[in-house]
Amino acid sequence: MAQLAINGGSSVRDTKVNPWPSWPVWDEHEEKALIDVLNSGIWSYNGPKEQEFNLAFAEYIGAKYAISAANGTVTIQLALEALGIGLGDEVIVPGLTWQGTAAAALDVNAIPVLVDVCEDTWCIDPEEVEKSITPRTKAIIPVHLYGSFADMDAIMDIAKRHNLFVIEDCAHKTGGEWSGRKAGSIGDIGSFSFQLSKHLTAGEGGAMTTNDPLLAEKLDALRNCGRRPETEEYSQEIKGAGFYSDEGNFIQSGNYRITEFQAAILVEALKRLPEQNSIRDKNGLYMNSLLFDLPGVSPMRRDKRETKEAYFNFAFRYHQDEFNSLPVDKFRKAFESELGIGVDSSYEPLNICSLYAPLTKPARYKINDPEWAKIDPSGFKLPVCERIFKEESVCLPHKILLGNQPDMDLIAKAIEKIRINSMEVIK
Ligand SMILES: Cc1ncc(COP(=O)(O)O)c(C=O)c1O
Repeated sequence: MAQLAINGGSSVRDTKVNPWPSWPVWDEHEEKALIDVLNSGIWSYNGPKEQEFNLAFAEYIGAKYAISAANGTVTIQLALEALGIGLGDEVIVPGLTWQGTAAAALDVNAIPVLVDVCEDTWCIDPEEVEKSITPRTKAIIPVHLYGSFADMDAIMDIAKRHNLFVIEDCAHKTGGEWSGRKAGSIGDIGSFSFQLSKHLTAGEGGAMTTNDPLLAEKLDALRNCGRRPETEEYSQEIKGAGFYSDEGNFIQSGNYRITEFQAAILVEALKRLPEQNSIRDKNGLYMNSLLFDLPGVSPMRRDKRETKEAYFNFAFRYHQDEFNSLPVDKFRKAFESELGIGVDSSYEPLNICSLYAPLTKPARYKINDPEWAKIDPSGFKLPVCERIFKEESVCLPHKILLGNQPDMDLIAKAIEKIRINSMEVIK
């Protein structure tokens, strides 16, 4: 008789009777806020909700400035533009990330240089960063992936020694803390995504954080068709600094603004985030302790300097040897059936990623033959990223971490159940 749910056995959880926590979370506060915006007739363009959110978000992150924008891809693009990075400049990016991290660099005509990650955090490997630096390198974009942090001490040290900018991609890390400092307050600019799957969300949206008033003013102008911000909040030094046109009021840019509806949701969602993050962090730590004791799986390494975690997904490593060589994709399918929830692999490494395909767009990216060759993703060797993606990665959505301790026990129970019965899947 089959034991595993994938073969018709009973699952560890009957989600019809006992569903997992749902996502997104909202209540009458969001409903009221949305109706208020609707009735106000101010649906976009530097509205009161956008300003309220920017102030609240800056305070939460512990940065002087926060500027919201349309999504967490254009925030990276605008960060690069504000730092003066463009044609032919090299930008170091981890090979394991959402394609938008690298695509943003492409979109300013820079060259994304893909480097490998650490096997136990899946975040950018500082040693690989150091090896990839050339005279054309201008910036590093560490990504704080899933439940891990890039080693910000090492990255900031490298950046200082080589005179490079650091843009933190915090799409997975809103509220996470490294040595007591929030992600997005350590590098020159922090970039955030508020897309639906993220743990602070308005469906779509993004934000940029910085402590530098000059950068803040540039970011603000760039997200608003290049208009010089009307506010007196920023530095007045930019005029004449070669940023705006001769008249001192405009720079070429596009519309990357957020709407008031998004900002209204974010204002409410941000109030819940600290508590949600604490619950997820507590459950994440507990899950790690359970995984630590299970054969065939490893929790991600939690650095002592990660004083608070914030999870987009909860990830762990799978070792098929302990599962009678059951391939990880089959494990994930069996795991999904046991839990009644979607289980993902990591992102595809960018050197083999179907959605990161710069060479499909010569009219946009073919500046000359040498640059064209340099942006070819297949030119980068990323053995650790590929092993993680092909053999080891298991990623659960963060909403499960909003559950309770028995929920976490159940997840561990499902893993062990599949291990004990792995021959059933293989046959
Ligand atoms: C690491 C990372 N960076 C950037 C982004 C881009 O964010 P958005 O989807 O808001 O453009 C994402 C989105 O998934 C992401 O995961």
